[in-house]
Amino acid sequence: MPKTIIVSNRLPTKVQRTENGLTFQPSEGGLATGLGSIYRQDGNAWVGWPGLFLEDAAEEDFIAEALRTDSMAPVFLTEAEIQEYYEGFSNSTLWPTFHYFPQFATYEPAHWAAYVAVNEKFCRAVLALAGPEDTIWVHDYQLLLLPALLRRERPGCTIGFFLHIPFPSYELLRVLPWRAELLHGLLGADLIGFHTFGYMRHFLSAVSHLLGLPTQNGLIETPTRTVLVDAFPMGIDYERYAEAAASDAARAHERTYRQALGTGRVVLSIDRLDYTKGIAQRLLAFGQLLGRYPEWVGQVSLLMVVVPSRDQVPQYAALKQEIDELVGRLNAQYRTIDWNPIHYFYRSFPPDELAALYRLAEVALVTPMRDGMNLVAKEFVASKADGRGVLILSERAGAARELSDALVINPTDINGLAEALHQALVMPADEQAQRLDTMRALVKRYNVFSWAKLFMNQLAYSKMKQHTLA
Ligand code: UDP
Ligand code: G6P
Repeated sequence: MPKTIIVSNRLPTKVQRTENGLTFQPSEGGLATGLGSIYRQDGNAWVGWPGLFLEDAAEEDFIAEALRTDSMAPVFLTEAEIQEYYEGFSNSTLWPTFHYFPQFATYEPAHWAAYVAVNEKFCRAVLALAGPEDTIWVHDYQLLLLPALLRRERPGCTIGFFLHIPFPSYELLRVLPWRAELLHGLLGADLIGFHTFGYMRHFLSAVSHLLGLPTQNGLIETPTRTVLVDAFPMGIDYERYAEAAASDAARAHERTYRQALGTGRVVLSIDRLDYTKGIAQRLLAFGQLLGRYPEWVGQVSLLMVVVPSRDQVPQYAALKQEIDELVGRLNAQYRTIDWNPIHYFYRSFPPDELAALYRLAEVALVTPMRDGMNLVAKEFVASKADGRGVLILSERAGAARELSDALVINPTDINGLAEALHQALVMPADEQAQRLDTMRALVKRYNVFSWAKLFMNQLAYSKMKQHTLA
């Protein structure tokens, strides 16, 4: 039976070396947590990097075998590939450019060469696994060249691509020396999906400006094929988050946290450490709230989970220092003997503890400068079965297109953000319930399963059209 092969840079399982040997943990980040719920269906497989550098072939074999039992096929990267392809071209060139931080982008020919070579490496790994009838679904900015590489080797095969981050305006994309190669790489797919129509429009405009190809109604005519482009806002596994929040384990953790925090009210933020997430701006806004509304001093705490991420990339290391300093300054300025304004955790949390945090929080503060979608916003909504809680959401997260019943803010407007925090803390219960109910219905309906199904149906349709045209 034909299967679907999912390909992404990072596997949903991350292998780490600890003093107890190699450990296998769930990966963080929206791509892994979102798709993690669907790939096990129907004998599918997932090709990707297990997240660490190995020197020992026996260890590679051990990991490959362990992952194979869970339908995963690892692509091992050398230390140089991690530096030049992952930290370099993917996260120091594409990530800042696509998130509107061109001032952080580097343009290193050696990084580009490594990006090409690793995309080719992924191509070989996929071809070793894919039968002629299989569908290949490639994910995200680390593998923009892979669709065309696969197409070259298997002209008739079905290839989908989904981008989990924003697609920037043409003015940003055109700065990249390798912009045309990147677009050609993507056009190897039959269907290219984005989270929003805005990202899709930017892509179509780049294709027509840079490649001069005709684009109409989401169809791109290349000299040899027609490529379909569409928007598919990604959802979450709603039931999993709703059930986790209602579980005994989450309730028990919540009681423990509550005892530690007393009657204090909790504002929650959860992100990977990333300059796109607006973490520093959020801290400044929380400081302004305490300065402007002293009645909240001693009453409201910010519980801030920052998950370590890409810490070998200079901008990430610098941001870590900035956040540490800001938290230290604000805590020193406002703390009392029995109250802390900011509870800052620099680590990841297991799922039942995350569920407890979502339960506990009255306000979720999601303030990215740019974010493809942002699944944390949807997870918070799914966890709030009792209709109590307020979501403050950046207008520049893809999720804001759908979750318009959140308090939608401009994350660079620190004053506005502080005011939204105050508004959230005094919002009447019936207004909270009304807003949450609308958002919960939407998150429940447009979940990750309906998202994958819609994408797959469109992919089958685009393939069928190709056959009719041929
Ligand atoms: N997450 C996690 N462990 C943590 C904190 C966060 O697994 O300790 C997950 C979170 O539940 C969410 C994902 O990481 O599913 C973050 O995805 P999002 O789309 O918000 O942002 P991204 O990291 O993809 O930029
Ligand atoms: C975002 C990206 C994913 C990536 C994740 C975590 O969600 O869209 O492709 O996997 O961040 O980042 P990392 O660099 O740790 O894989």
